[in-house]
Formats: sequence, C-alpha cells, structure tokens
Amino acid sequence: IEVKSSDIDEYLRVAIDVAKEAGKVICSALEVEKRIETKESLADLVTETDQQVEKMIISTFHQKFPTHCFIGEESVSSGEKCTLTNAPTWIIDPIDGTTNFVHRFQFSCISIGLLINKRTEVAVVFNPNLDHMYTAKRGHGAYCNNTKLKVSDVNNLQNALILAEFGSSRDPEKMTKRVETMHRIVNKSHGIRSLGSAAMAMCLVASGRGEAYYEYGIHCWDVAAGDLIVREAGGVVLDPSGSDMDMMARRVICACNKDIADQVISLLQTVEFERDSEEVVSGK
Ligand code: IPD
Ligand code: CA
Ligand code: CA
Ligand code: CA
Repeated sequence: IEVKSSDIDEYLRVAIDVAKEAGKVICSALEVEKRIETKESLADLVTETDQQVEKMIISTFHQKFPTHCFIGEESVSSGEKCTLTNAPTWIIDPIDGTTNFVHRFQFSCISIGLLINKRTEVAVVFNPNLDHMYTAKRGHGAYCNNTKLKVSDVNNLQNALILAEFGSSRDPEKMTKRVETMHRIVNKSHGIRSLGSAAMAMCLVASGRGEAYYEYGIHCWDVAAGDLIVREAGGVVLDPSGSDMDMMARRVICACNKDIADQVISLLQTVEFERDSEEVVSGK
C-alpha cells in the first residue's frame, strides 16, 4: 500500500485533534468519582472514561477514514485473536495508565498509532494532565509540543536511568521474575522508575529523560505510537531477545542506543525468558 505525504499530514492532524478532544474528557473526569471495574487481576482496571474515550476516537476516525481498520484496547474482548494486516490500522489506547488516572497520578495519556504495512507511520501520545503532546511522522522526527526530541547519549548502563514496569498481571511466578530482573538492573545502573504508563515511558526515553524502558506482557496498543516516537528521536526499539520488535509479540525494549539496549538485554537474559508472548488477546 502506498501513501501520499499529504494523506499522512491529514492523518496526523485528525489524530492530534481527536487526542485533544479525548484529553478534555479525561481531565473533566479526573476529579469526579469513577466507576471502576477490574479485568484480569486486581491491578487491571477499567473505567467508563476508558470506554467513552475509545468510542469517541474510533467513531471520529471511522467517519473520516471509513476504509481504515481499528484495534482498540476496550473494543477487544478477552480471548479474541488480534491480527494486524497491511491495511491502514489505527491502534488505540484510550487511556494508557488507567491506574494512574484512577489515582489522579499525572502520568496517563491517550496513545494513537496509525500503522500501514504493519509499520507505524503516524504517532500521537497526549498527556492531558501535563499538556504534553508527543507526535511523530515516519522520516520527519518526533516532537513534544513544538520541541524536537532527541534521545540521551549515555552509552553505559552504569550512568543510565531505566524505566521498567510490573505490568498488571499478578501471577506469582511472573512477579518473582520481574522483581529479580529489576534487582539485577538496579544494582548496575543509576536506578529504576516505574511510571504506570508504557506510552509515557517510551516518550520519556525519546525525550532523553531516561535511557531505556522494557516490559513483558504489554499489548500492541501500549507501544504502537511510542515505537515511532522513540525511533524518530534517534532511539532503538527491539524485542528483548535483541531481534526486531514484533508489534504483536507482547514484549518490548526501547533505548537511547544499541549499547544501552544490549547491556539491559544481557541482564534480562540471565533468567529464563517470560514466554507470555503472542497477541492472543483480542482485536478485529
Ligand atoms: C498499562 C500501562 C502500564 C503497563 C501495563 C499496561 P493500561 O496500560 O501501560 O504501564 O505496565 O502493562 O497494561 O491498562 O493502563 O492501558
Ligand atoms: Ca488496561
Ligand atoms: Ca495501556
Ligand atoms: Ca488503556
């Protein structure tokens, strides 16, 4: 599928507009008492706002671009298989960082990526709490508001700050491995931060505020936009095995450069890999 650059500009413009609208909904729901449900664990939350925002985003795109496909976290039912084709596909996380949203902790965002030929062409991550609008077009750099982003040039783990997440599963075996991995990394770096939003973590790495982020168990909607934002800021996005990132494989590492990625990966591989893998989730 070929795309014209004028079309790409239009996709980005619409994505920014819809993210701003979604941001207003999220901000006005922030201080109001929320109806919260749990999904697969006590730490896997969803609110009416997640659902409302996703509906709003999908219906806007559907109206403007009726031939496009969609994968949205809250439209996918558990167990449904999620397949990504070459067709233009909007991958949407209406609120990345729902737990943060529930607690009014300011790291939650709307994450929107448009993939064509299975590659992200347009990315928007908007944190309405801080009014940070991250955008990227493939080949044209990444921005936060109007500032061009550039990753950090630290190339030694000893001098690096690493972003890592516990994820929302509370499976005891996975938790043990995750904590062990973090222990190894914290001993060899400046420290670890757990923000509660995969998309925000990737945007911070893209902004040179932290050197790497990795996570097992993520979904495509957590990383579809962040993937392009990190790459356009000069960073690398890989599978934790060191090979290319597979958007549907449910694991990721991104870093400011390959040296840092390799040093983190060597510590991930000292325990057996978590084989959470494959997007068996749901999708359309
Ligand atoms: C979650 C956040 C969190 C990550 C989880 C995700 P959600 O997304 O990105 O940082 O650790 O794996 O599920 O559920 O808040 O959209
Ligand atoms: Ca969720
Ligand atoms: Ca998410
Ligand atoms: Ca979400």
